Amino acid sequence: MHEFSYRDGVLCCEGVALTDLAAEHGTPLYVYSAKTIRDHYRRLDEALSGLDHRVCFAMKANSNLAVLNLLAREGAGFDIVSGGELFRVLQSGGRADSCTFAGVGKTREEIEYALKEGVYSFNVESEPELEFINEVAGALGKKAPVALRVNPDVDAQTHKYISTGKSHNKFGIGIDRILGVYAQAAKLPHLQIRGIQTHIGSQILETTPFVEALGKLAPIVEELKKSYGIEFFSIGGGVGIVYHGTLESGAPDWWLRANGDGGKRIGFDDYARAVVPLLKPLGLKILLEPGRSLVGNAGALLASVLYVKKTPAKNFVITDAGMNDLIRPALYEGHHEIVPLQEPPAGAPHGPVDVVGPVCESGDFFAQDRELPEVQAGEKIALLSAGAYGFVMASNYNSRRLPAEILVDGGHSEVVRARQSWDDLVAGERVPGK
Ligand code: LLP
Repeated sequence: MHEFSYRDGVLCCEGVALTDLAAEHGTPLYVYSAKTIRDHYRRLDEALSGLDHRVCFAMKANSNLAVLNLLAREGAGFDIVSGGELFRVLQSGGRADSCTFAGVGKTREEIEYALKEGVYSFNVESEPELEFINEVAGALGKKAPVALRVNPDVDAQTHKYISTGKSHNKFGIGIDRILGVYAQAAKLPHLQIRGIQTHIGSQILETTPFVEALGKLAPIVEELKKSYGIEFFSIGGGVGIVYHGTLESGAPDWWLRANGDGGKRIGFDDYARAVVPLLKPLGLKILLEPGRSLVGNAGALLASVLYVKKTPAKNFVITDAGMNDLIRPALYEGHHEIVPLQEPPAGAPHGPVDVVGPVCESGDFFAQDRELPEVQAGEKIALLSAGAYGFVMASNYNSRRLPAEILVDGGHSEVVRARQSWDDLVAGERVPGK
């Protein structure tokens, strides 16, 4: 599943000791395993080998140029949601014609840029957007390739902030109206109807919501193929990953006690077994937009313990990483396993602690009442499964610098984004008149 494990008492990523990386580059520090990303991509690709398909990495999950380059070399396309993401794809060596452009609020500037670069398809989320893309394409003397995003009104059974396929969500066009909107699109002269798209949510740990959505959409897809000769069906992303119990081999006793057996999980094979039989008969190119499932378990955020603050109510482990570096626990109460970089000896004392950051908010926590081995100031820890929606959601809140990012490949490690400097923090700002 991933390449983070203890070797001789030290947490390693592939062949590299994380203690060495933390000492050399400082903390907070994101570390990614190239092997894990490649393995995940290949396993998904292989599981879908019975279909004419293309994996378009949802790069909102991790848009570091090194990660994009690695996936482009594997043959991935990209699911982009902004002009900035298209720029990153091109900077990384990826191709515009491998990109699908999603999102409910595309601007004129972004649409023009995507048309000039030649994206594969715009995934359109509303009637006004459809008309606007038609107008922008007309002004450039181009035809815009489009797919409509259908909202199938399916419950993805996930956190409410990352559920997208219910009728009350802002995404897509209602399934009951979709054929009417295709008819409208067909009348617009500067559009070329190329496909259909859906995405029901993220961190989905059952196959049932996917099956339900595809079951509802299959007759519509057939109809569109007949009427408009569409060439693709993008089924979105959303396959969930394991956040609990993510340290695999050689997990020590204290860790198993604290983290249990990992609970629900969904593998690419389970996913493929569920969806391929529904997709194969459609005879179309199938696009997938996985984000988290390719990179989530491939990353960790390293932090240093600054203080251990003991109070009558609770014990706090205060780290140099904060919610500005990894916001998932604060925003979605997301769970990330926390492990010391130096493996604690068997029988080491442990107890419940809150692991918190230095940011001035009570929501700045990574774990609450978590059973962890005792750590001391100066020790280093890792927050696991931070490869997706980690760095990309980081901010400069509290004027904290964005952390550095490292890519490990085998025994080799490389800085793929330098830590921000204090000058970077104020770049572009000025005091009026000076
Ligand atoms: N396609 C579309 C249209 C999407 O909106 C998303 C994610 C994906 C694909 C990729 O979904 P994935 O395979 O990663 O589940 N920040 C949240 C997750 C937000 C997901 C947004 N859309 C988190 O940290 O849990």
